Amino acid sequence: MKTEVLPVNEQSLALAKQLILAGELVAFHTETVYGLGADARNDEAVKKVFEVKGRPQDNPLISHVHTEYDITPLIDGEPPYAQALRNAFLPGPLTMVYPSTGRVSKYVSCGLNTLSIRVPASQSAQAFLRAVNVPIVAPSANLSKHVSPVTAEHVLDDFNGKIPLILDGGACTGGIESTVLDCTGNVPQILRAGLVTREMIASVVGACDVYHMAKGEKPKSPGMAYKHYSPRCETVLLKDADEAIERYFEEEKKGGVPYLLCTRSPKEGLRVLPLGESGEEMASNLYARLREGERNATLIIAIEPNERGGVMDGVLNRLTRACKGGEDET
Ligand code: TXA
Ligand code: MG
Repeated sequence: MKTEVLPVNEQSLALAKQLILAGELVAFHTETVYGLGADARNDEAVKKVFEVKGRPQDNPLISHVHTEYDITPLIDGEPPYAQALRNAFLPGPLTMVYPSTGRVSKYVSCGLNTLSIRVPASQSAQAFLRAVNVPIVAPSANLSKHVSPVTAEHVLDDFNGKIPLILDGGACTGGIESTVLDCTGNVPQILRAGLVTREMIASVVGACDVYHMAKGEKPKSPGMAYKHYSPRCETVLLKDADEAIERYFEEEKKGGVPYLLCTRSPKEGLRVLPLGESGEEMASNLYARLREGERNATLIIAIEPNERGGVMDGVLNRLTRACKGGEDET
């Protein structure tokens, strides 16, 4: 199969619609990362997403809709706080988990009685979702366990020859996946940290919990159980800059090509993948730097940033799960 990479315009959107309604996969830009889209109502199309990605069968998918799409038939009611959060943050990088009415393919939620819904803000995502006008399931458009894609080129690297179309909407500025928020309880609960932070949610509705998986427990959000986001070269996360420098020179001595992934290089003249200063900058840079690193490095040595709270919760979660030496969530 030839994979076309096309800019988003009337012709490519018409082609995207035709492909989606025929049960094919189309990758598209969002403000967080690229998504691998399929018609959420079509069993075969949804199954194809799992196959092409190599995704575990128990990891549910997010359904994406445009701003005017009426989600009420898809969900079995919503608490008042969910309405307030929708008004405050949508369209945007927030995925909300609701009780499901089971109107989309049964393969979307992998046996859970909930459905996660996202309304992305990016113009090209909106144009695509409007053109097809059906709920689109879309995991990040990377092979399972690989680093999420933030350019059309990243998507092509993972899926060249495996999908018919990538709609190129440019680079994703958000850079890490949406916040996944459980809206089935009395208080909203973050299942996956992201750009809409706990602080932001609490400031609108007064309270926001964060889910922590207890050891041995079945995770509430199955995606959390998987090691994730890993570059194709060895990647480690170290707390200490001196230790990082030592590891860097050890790797060089072995004939390897180490790179430091950090805010500021602790020493002149080392190869560096710059992460940026603020949480937002780091989120925006993280996956692009990891993809760049894996092309050139034998070892990526990440130095743990000091900042905490807000967007850093999401950045640290992704960084930890990309690296050895970080906490393993499986
Ligand atoms: O920013 C994003 O969310 C991107 C773009 C493409 O929209 N999508 C994305 O999808 O990151 P994916 O499949 O890579 O991650 C979805 C996460 C997984 O951790 C999954 O377990 C969780 O959301 N999830 C999906 N549906 C769920 C549900 N009904 N209940 C609990 N967790 C759910
Ligand atoms: Mg993913």
